[in-house]
Amino acid sequence: MTEELLDGGERLGREELAALQLERLRATLRHAYENVDFHRRSFDAAGVTPEDCRTLADLARFPFTSKSDLRDHYPFGMFAVEQSGIRRIHASSGTTGRPTVVGYTDGDLEVWADVMARSLRAAGVRPGHKVHVAYGYGLFTGGLGAHYGAERLGCTVIPASGGMTARQVRLILDFRPEVIMVTPSYMLTLLDEFERQGVDPRSTSLKVGLFGAEPWTEEMRAEIEERFAIDAVDIYGLSEVMGPGVAQECVETKDGLHVWEDHFYPEVVDPFTGEVLPDGEEGELVFTSLTKEAMPVIRYRTRDLTRLLPGTARVFRRMEKVTGRSDDMIVLRGVNLFPTQIEEIVLRTPAVAPHFQLRLTREGRLDALTVRAEARPDATAGQRAEAARAVAAAVKDGIGVSVGVEVVDPGTLERSVGKIRRIVDLRESA
Ligand code: DLL
Repeated sequence: MTEELLDGGERLGREELAALQLERLRATLRHAYENVDFHRRSFDAAGVTPEDCRTLADLARFPFTSKSDLRDHYPFGMFAVEQSGIRRIHASSGTTGRPTVVGYTDGDLEVWADVMARSLRAAGVRPGHKVHVAYGYGLFTGGLGAHYGAERLGCTVIPASGGMTARQVRLILDFRPEVIMVTPSYMLTLLDEFERQGVDPRSTSLKVGLFGAEPWTEEMRAEIEERFAIDAVDIYGLSEVMGPGVAQECVETKDGLHVWEDHFYPEVVDPFTGEVLPDGEEGELVFTSLTKEAMPVIRYRTRDLTRLLPGTARVFRRMEKVTGRSDDMIVLRGVNLFPTQIEEIVLRTPAVAPHFQLRLTREGRLDALTVRAEARPDATAGQRAEAARAVAAAVKDGIGVSVGVEVVDPGTLERSVGKIRRIVDLRESA
């Protein structure tokens, strides 16, 4: 990456960055303490004041914020500015209970567009490129977050939003975008649709995709890159911290995601004890916002599991591709298992397609897991049976637990239109 393509924040040295982070961190702690009851009460209960933060390491003395804290203050209780200063609201529905609501000031929207533009640039996108945004537009942060970032960079945005898959393919063929932004699982749905329409997915105008909003593996990257003949890079973010554009993989290295650390300060903690772990160790990712005005977040527990690594293509630290959320971890007869581990195995197995589901049932008093994967269209009955055996053996050897495997007909599993749900929990009804 040539120097002139970097913005001011990306040109900082490590020491300058640390100084900037500390200054912004102290201001954020003060802002949260002075303007949000929840933070004032939780700092008081922990016996800390914003002035106690003299070094970045002092942040560890401050209390965490969890998703349930946000839910408890539904809808606007975590906002730190007057309602008239809130320019936009987003919300993430989650699977249970109240949605989490987040707010943005004019300044927050500026920063968001800037970090998203930075993400796009890191992915190899340049002014003048056409960007097809197939993340959903609405309360979900994906669509609008991507949209304003692409405009900020000077791209032409095609705000397709999610769904209407046949039309997505038509738009890609007719408008000829170089860039697509979509969940990796929906990209596979698009792949099917290209093939259904008799179009070679490798022949489109697309050159690069920014895939995120759900965990995906190196094996999935290889599949998407090969089937579409594009570069596939990872983009990470969450509504509570901002939306997409918190961390981004650089196309020149594809070695994990650089966290835009001048705006979002990352820590990795032990998910059970909350103790801060040294860089390189896997644990739960925690973020403190450094520049947010409407809704500063202090040590927000993402439940995403990863580790922090030194920067490569950028000065900022990287986070490794997210293994999964602690909520999505399946504990099967004492063995921990993540959907991404199954994804790696399914995608390495010839004769099965990258479409799979994990079905949890209860047999007597024990939980059982069945991996239901689709056969590739050209697989013979013999190859399907062999694939089922191979997946079961790889799970047993690699993860250490027995699972059932069913290889079903092509096209039978439900397709994703946004964030995919891999786990089908049938235990209640069993
Ligand atoms: O998913 C924001 C986003 C939109 C990111 C588009 C990237 C692209 P939420 O709906 O609040 O926000 O969900 C956030 O999604 O805590 C992770 O569990 C998961 N997630 C997001 N990006 C990735 C990724 C958006 N690249 C939650 N890899 C996060 C793995 C991801 N998981």
